[in-house]
Amino acid sequence: MANKKRMLGLIGFVGAGALALGLAGCAGGGNDGGDNGDGGNAGGDGELTTVGFVAVGPEGGWRNANEQAIKDAFTQDAGFDLKYAPAASPTDQKSQIDAFATFVNDEVDVILLTATEASGWEDSLELAQEAEIPVILLDRGVDASDDLYVTRIAPDNVNVAGTVGEWAVETFPEGANYFTLEGVPGLSVVNERNEGFDAAIEGASGWNKIGAQTANWTADEGKSVIETVLKENPDLQFVFAQNDEMGIGAAAAVTAAGLVPGEDVKIATIDGTTPALEALAAGELSFVAQYNPFFGDLAVDAVNSALAGDSVEKNIIVPGETFDSPEAAQAAIDEGKGF
Ligand code: AHR
Repeated sequence: MANKKRMLGLIGFVGAGALALGLAGCAGGGNDGGDNGDGGNAGGDGELTTVGFVAVGPEGGWRNANEQAIKDAFTQDAGFDLKYAPAASPTDQKSQIDAFATFVNDEVDVILLTATEASGWEDSLELAQEAEIPVILLDRGVDASDDLYVTRIAPDNVNVAGTVGEWAVETFPEGANYFTLEGVPGLSVVNERNEGFDAAIEGASGWNKIGAQTANWTADEGKSVIETVLKENPDLQFVFAQNDEMGIGAAAAVTAAGLVPGEDVKIATIDGTTPALEALAAGELSFVAQYNPFFGDLAVDAVNSALAGDSVEKNIIVPGETFDSPEAAQAAIDEGKGF
């Protein structure tokens, strides 16, 4: 794909100050004549755009939906050869760094990265920049200069967590004794969700944080942590779970303690998976904020814009919605909004 890289070399990497262009208006392909009209790059000679996807791999309902959405968008019919590289485990950054380096060495046209850690990516990103391979972040941010990647595509974690905090302040006008179940430590989304929730309850009176602990995005750990919390804090009123699986685990802990989730202890979660919507419909969860995983088309647009040398917004925000009652949850399930 030499022509494409030359074009990219001429344009250079999109800097942080790049003007935002509506992705809807971006040219599809914009390559050496191979645009197949679907935006991809099935060149006249049938050459596909090679996309290296440094992924997390099997982790939970949200991850499965998000990675499938990327696979569904970057098809050969759309002009892409997607090379999927899941991490050895959801916390194994080394396997991701190795896969990233392999993609650079193989001279893929573009790299998609969903990082298992926020830090430790500078060298990899500089390697890609030297090789004139654009990098697009999916979901998770990284602690590196945004000159080293084209864009980050994700829902706004601060805003999504802010909707949880706003709901909590409305639900507990006198405040509450609460506990936060966090995702895997060191992730951008964990810090952003804490930031958004804390900002939303700031200034509201009566909010007593019993504590926070990682449950590593899993239901088992969410249950285990809240079982311990309840033994030591029988006055727990509210749990902010940073994803659905941990929240569902927390609800199981509340039930195991002889209490009623949704009444004795309310639980709010982020993601919007079908099991969470079902738990909300059943009253076991009290609030679910969708963290929309379906941004494959946005990723395709961003790839095509980057390879065409067009400017791309540094942060592409994926919209979502919230669900605050059993009726809203059931309606969402009926409308197929779960995943
Ligand atoms: O980075 C997104 C988070 O990772 C999701 O909220 C969670 O379910 C996943 O493990």
